[in-house]
Amino acid sequence: MPTLNVTNREGQETAVEVEDGLTVMEAIRDNGFDELLALCGGCCSCATCHVHVDPSFKDKLPAMSEDEDDLLESSDHRTENSRLGCQIPFTDALDGLRVTIAPED
Ligand code: FES
Repeated sequence: MPTLNVTNREGQETAVEVEDGLTVMEAIRDNGFDELLALCGGCCSCATCHVHVDPSFKDKLPAMSEDEDDLLESSDHRTENSRLGCQIPFTDALDGLRVTIAPED
């Protein structure tokens, strides 16, 4: 199974194995990171799954939708590497991806 490396808000990195068909948000939430609230359950309407993504993987990520862009705009912690975890299906091509859970808004 491909691996996702998750850094929590304390700066600790944990490698998690991701089952087929999960998004980055689901992989993080299902592995016990309760600081990632994912309040809307992945409907792209809450922005509580905000992560900062390793820029070296940028080309492998799906394009950002207008909705995702708008939601991220509401965050005080948006950077050029910001994405919503629920909008990134985790595929084999993303094996080794590093994400950092964004600070709480
Ligand atoms: S879980 Fe709500 S926007 Fe991603």
